[in-house]
Amino acid sequence: MVAPVPPPASRLAGVGSSPVRELLALVSRPGVISFAGGLPAPELFDHEGLRAAFDRVVAGEPRRVLQYSPTEGDPHLRRLLAERRTRLGLPTGDTDLLITSGSQQGLSLVATVLVEPGDTVLVEEPGYLAALQCFAIAGARVVAAPTDDHGILPDALADAVRRERPKLLYLVPTFQNPTGRTLPDDRRDAVARVAADEGLWIVEDDPYSELRYRGEPVAPIAARPEAADRTILLGSLSKIMAPGLRLGWLRAPESVRRQLVIAKQATDLHTSTVTQAAAAAYLAETDLDAHLDRLRAAYRPRRDAMLAALPATLPEGSRWSEPEGGMFVWARLPDGTDTADLLRRALDHDVAFVPGAPFYAEHPDPATLRLSFATPTVEEITKGMHRLTAALAE
Ligand SMILES: Cc1ncc(COP(=O)(O)O)c(C=O)c1O
Repeated sequence: MVAPVPPPASRLAGVGSSPVRELLALVSRPGVISFAGGLPAPELFDHEGLRAAFDRVVAGEPRRVLQYSPTEGDPHLRRLLAERRTRLGLPTGDTDLLITSGSQQGLSLVATVLVEPGDTVLVEEPGYLAALQCFAIAGARVVAAPTDDHGILPDALADAVRRERPKLLYLVPTFQNPTGRTLPDDRRDAVARVAADEGLWIVEDDPYSELRYRGEPVAPIAARPEAADRTILLGSLSKIMAPGLRLGWLRAPESVRRQLVIAKQATDLHTSTVTQAAAAAYLAETDLDAHLDRLRAAYRPRRDAMLAALPATLPEGSRWSEPEGGMFVWARLPDGTDTADLLRRALDHDVAFVPGAPFYAEHPDPATLRLSFATPTVEEITKGMHRLTAALAE
């Protein structure tokens, strides 16, 4: 008789794989027009520029870029990213930043450093799924903070904080995944005040703000003086350069920086030296703003095409967000609709989206869905919306 091995750690019990990732495998068959993915459009990657940057650093400094390197990140990359953040209106020093392997790792490090099993974490509902996973693995009690079409409601947030005594609030204030909505400036001030008055960490996840197609930029919560000592801002190169690089950064107050570095050391020692060096070489030589203009010029008409098609596509009584940027439109169909059933019919018509229920931490709304306009072309969007109309008519 062989003795059984001990079971996996209980912290993983009840934490499922992301239903969206599983769905993506299902919808990637040829012929399907997919509004499901949260991926950037691959034809917009600057693969030539990136290849040249990798060439430059591997040919020029092989002994450095193929070696181990500091946990905090490549000094050149940190400097360039800090300068960019400063130019965008949030004064940032190189040492404020820790380079991470995608902002997803930033989330996981924050959960490791701030969350003890049983601690309460407040999240937006609906919200970014993989963040819910991170906090669940850390053993957090995840509680939904009240929101409306513009995001967190500051007064209700203050009540929830007093009632639930959470350790942190996680939010995506700009072009949120999955809703596309943006938290207005005055609410950002109010959220910062609640955090200051009640003693709360804010984790501000910001992978999308540079993909703005309409309207004016809104300063991050991290820029509000009241919350400066308690806001951790997460950034990412995934949506503005390429997600396969797995490069992100976090900007943390000094009080937790050392613990975050130690947690990263224990996780992966450091983010890939060569990838960081190539990204730094790329950023030093490339006009990223011109690249961003190309991305916006490609995404803007896709967003406009989707919003233009929605009134004729969705049934009477439906509502949807009108995002000024990012990748997602969020819709709610009339009461009684189950978008998981609708997805099965949609797939018969070769069109896909993500049903909304899994994005909820507490109270799923089965009538909701997420539509991404980033990867299909304008023609595909128009065609895909016709297919969706047909699926809805069944
Ligand atoms: C809100 C949000 N945070 C974090 C991430 C993870 O991004 P990264 O590729 O930087 O790990 C995503 C990816 O889609 C996201 O939507």
